[in-house]
Amino acid sequence: MAEFTLRIRRYDPQSGEAPYWDEHTVELEPHRSVLEGILQAKAKNDGSIGVRCSCRAAICGSCGVRINGKPGLACHTHLDSALASATDGVIEVEPMGNMPVIRDLIVDMDAVHWKKIQRVTPWLIGKEPVPEREYIVDRLSMVDVTQTMACIQCGACVGDCLSLEVDPLFVGPAALAKAYRFVGDPRDAMQAERLKDLAEDPHGIYDCTHCFKCIETCPKGVAPMNQIMRLRRRAGQDHHIEDQN
Ligand code: FES
Repeated sequence: MAEFTLRIRRYDPQSGEAPYWDEHTVELEPHRSVLEGILQAKAKNDGSIGVRCSCRAAICGSCGVRINGKPGLACHTHLDSALASATDGVIEVEPMGNMPVIRDLIVDMDAVHWKKIQRVTPWLIGKEPVPEREYIVDRLSMVDVTQTMACIQCGACVGDCLSLEVDPLFVGPAALAKAYRFVGDPRDAMQAERLKDLAEDPHGIYDCTHCFKCIETCPKGVAPMNQIMRLRRRAGQDHHIEDQN
């Protein structure tokens, strides 16, 4: 067992009070997660600490926070590695950026993240005629979209996106990676329309400034910026095809 001090950002917008930092010392094995540290502080010291979590296994994406200034999953960050990146021996935990705080570490994912995901029609629109059995897709096409399928919708990339900070209307890294999942799927009937829409939207694929933050922060290796670049390449090809016609 070892002692770790967590400095947690506390804020209740409904209280009318300003945000403040709150320190708690927890006792856990170093390989335990920052989430377990927060939950111990909540259980033993202060039950009012607001934190969202579910699976505790880096699957559900609900425990996204900033740890020592960097977005990540609290359940997927060991206390010892968090301490190693702390500047003053205290692990700092605060809510993700670019989203309004509901309370303490809980942000309003509906107001930003999910709204943007909805913007890109996040489901497959199957081609007609519907085959009698399954759609047959070649293996390489599916390999191409596999990386985007790894997204667990934690919002870490959204919380750290510099383009979103400047332009809150930017469709954003998570939603554009989701868009590539369908633009790259040969079963989708709306590939060209999706591309045209996201290329013509001033807040779409050309609004990304290549800051690489989403690549650095994604805990699942989705590399949203790379997916945005792939959308751009495909949009360029599409225009080229239209010009030739
Ligand atoms: Fe599910 Fe962390 S609690 S990803």
